[in-house]
Amino acid sequence: MWTPSDNEGALLHRIEDRSARVGVVGLGYVGLPFAVENAKAGFTVVGLEENAERAAQVSRGENYISDVSDAELRGLVAAGKITATTDFSVVKDLDVIVIAVPTPLTSNLTPELRHVEAVTRQIAKYLRRGQLISLESTTYPGTTEEVMLPILESSGLKLGNDFYLAHSPERVDPGNLNFHTKNTNKVVGGAEPRSHEVAVSYYSKIIDRVVPVSSAKSAELVKVFENTFRAVNIALVNEMALLCDKMNLNVWEVLDAAFTKPFGIMPFYPGPGVGGHCIPLDPHYLEWKAREFNFKTQFISLAGEINRRMPVFVKEKIARVLNQQGIALSRSTVLMVGVSYKNNVSDCRESPAIEILRLLRQEGVNVVYHDPYVPSVVEEHFSVEGQPLTDTLIKGADLTLITAVHSCIDYDALVDKSKHVLDTRNATKSVRRNRDKITLL
Ligand SMILES: NC(=O)c1ccc[n+]([C@@H]2O[C@H](COP(=O)([O-])OP(=O)(O)OC[C@H]3O[C@@H](n4cnc5c(N)ncnc54)[C@H](O)[C@@H]3O)[C@@H](O)[C@H]2O)c1
Repeated sequence: MWTPSDNEGALLHRIEDRSARVGVVGLGYVGLPFAVENAKAGFTVVGLEENAERAAQVSRGENYISDVSDAELRGLVAAGKITATTDFSVVKDLDVIVIAVPTPLTSNLTPELRHVEAVTRQIAKYLRRGQLISLESTTYPGTTEEVMLPILESSGLKLGNDFYLAHSPERVDPGNLNFHTKNTNKVVGGAEPRSHEVAVSYYSKIIDRVVPVSSAKSAELVKVFENTFRAVNIALVNEMALLCDKMNLNVWEVLDAAFTKPFGIMPFYPGPGVGGHCIPLDPHYLEWKAREFNFKTQFISLAGEINRRMPVFVKEKIARVLNQQGIALSRSTVLMVGVSYKNNVSDCRESPAIEILRLLRQEGVNVVYHDPYVPSVVEEHFSVEGQPLTDTLIKGADLTLITAVHSCIDYDALVDKSKHVLDTRNATKSVRRNRDKITLL
């Protein structure tokens, strides 16, 4: 007679001997490196991607994510370890399905789970006994069990008896040279004990250290807490920057000195705002969920408020700096250097630099930009082409605004050639000449 443990035993066996077939849904910044790591661990991987061009690129072994090595992906595709498709009917042939699709916010700062829901409905259509489904997208505690589980069980199959469900938040830090998918500790929580066991066993085959927690909800909260921790600490130093501006103190000097304390403090730096897919968005997932418990997450709303104010502050500071030189903001040319949301990457999602670009254009400023990683900025109501960083470009601007630090840029030369520099990132920290041309955030 068949028992639930037969499913579990068979799946554990396939995970153990690497004969399990793994599906990775969403081949973006998180999904593609994770697919590669699975293949390197010996699993055969199928990427499920709604963007047909991306699926075709991966199937041809063409890489488009900077954290993935071109040669490694090409080799794994050539060896038949990775393929990609847009067709969800392959789900029936898979043993493990990992989901890494976007979890954005609506314009009212509430969770937008349409990608997770759409994928779960597709999986439910082809769900069969003995499969593990794991959600890696960042979300509020309860998504896996309250949103995904009912959709999956609408197939007629039962959690823990027929299939397994877990949450394991992704912690990838694009561009980080020390920590990547394999050596970043991975938190795993199952929706019930059998799911937990299967998920921990699976992730242990791929990631150096797995950190089990008692439930999927705990795992979901771990991730949003981590991002909230960053959002709140960045807001704290941003608030210090706003105060130092009023007190005419150098916030960078103050913070650098504070961070020499060998205990009880951790470095965070101010900037033109926060960007990326995580810090500006994820804490609001928790804020929204907390309301169900009649609980107001005050740190989250305050941090969001301060961090969102920074681009406006930068615009006001630009106007002030130009004014001191007798130039009206609306008649000025501003050269922005670096528009991605952080150093040495091309990712522009939620980039505060782009918000500043938009605010400046609204004021009638002639904004030009240079970013070696970003050829063009395409927004809903405008698009701007990036420019090579020529002497003519620099000398033609009334102000150079540094909004992201890319190590390939020569900041000494940039300052030499600029009329004035507003540095929102302390990129010019080690520039010695022409300090009088530089205004710091
Ligand atoms: N990028 C990061 O640094 C990072 C870090 C940690 C966690 N996360 C989280 O991981 C999740 C994924 O983020 P990302 O940065 O990889 O996003 P991404 O936009 O780079 O990739 C998501 C991919 O999913 C695909 N997709 C969307 N809907 C789909 C569907 N219905 N079926 C199949 N494919 C679909 C998209 O086409 C895209 O290729 C998000 O929840 C994010 O918050 C991201």
